[in-house]
Amino acid sequence: MRNDLYLDLMKRCLVNEIYPELETGNGLPFIGEKRMSKLDEARAKASAWKGLESRYKPYITIDPSLIVEIGVDYGYSFFTLASDFPRAMVVGIDPYPISGEGSVGHPDAEIHVRKYIKEFPNTVLLKMESKRGSLEFKDNSIDLLHIDAIHTYEATKEDIELWSFKLKQGGIAMFHDVVSFPGTRKAFDEIPGRKVIIPECFGLGIWYKE
Ligand SMILES: C[S@@+](CC[C@H](N)C(=O)[O-])C[C@H]1O[C@@H](n2cnc3c(N)ncnc32)[C@H](O)[C@@H]1O
Repeated sequence: MRNDLYLDLMKRCLVNEIYPELETGNGLPFIGEKRMSKLDEARAKASAWKGLESRYKPYITIDPSLIVEIGVDYGYSFFTLASDFPRAMVVGIDPYPISGEGSVGHPDAEIHVRKYIKEFPNTVLLKMESKRGSLEFKDNSIDLLHIDAIHTYEATKEDIELWSFKLKQGGIAMFHDVVSFPGTRKAFDEIPGRKVIIPECFGLGIWYKE
């Protein structure tokens, strides 16, 4: 099933002729110390997500097959998810480079992610905006979603509208910066249903789609 999903995604959107910038993991699993050291290296750059890696996992009460992250930057959460869920495919979406209100990206972030992505065989990077990326996924196909892109109310609301139908029933969506960005918090608060917030590390909102 996982292989089918991967191949299907490859066929639809990941062939190099269509997206020459695309890079994926090289298929070689890393275990033990080597994996850890690569993960530490990959996460050595600045990130507001730092500290969540030891907090968020108990809230992920599912065994995800497909994880999608909107807003990768240096990849702290992207590589964390790839490492914590090695049996899942983790797709990161980021247009690189972009800056503006509520979008905290770094100009050298793409180079960093491309350097380390080969160490994580279960990852795919789609260099595109959230709206474009959402077209690549079927409704009810994603198990775990992480929204961490533009932190205004309007942009977060748009991401919720674009992505909530892509999330499976029983899936989980995480929203970073719900404490530090009032607009993101407002949009998160408006989602109906069961939610929790991890208040540390700028706040991680978690929505259980039931
Ligand atoms: C807060 S950073 C992501 C942080 C990252 N998740 C981490 O673990 O450190 C926000 C990222 O969103 C990206 N971004 C901006 N606009 C976007 C859009 N329309 N779609 C997807 N990503 C976007 C920026 O390029 C930036 O890299």
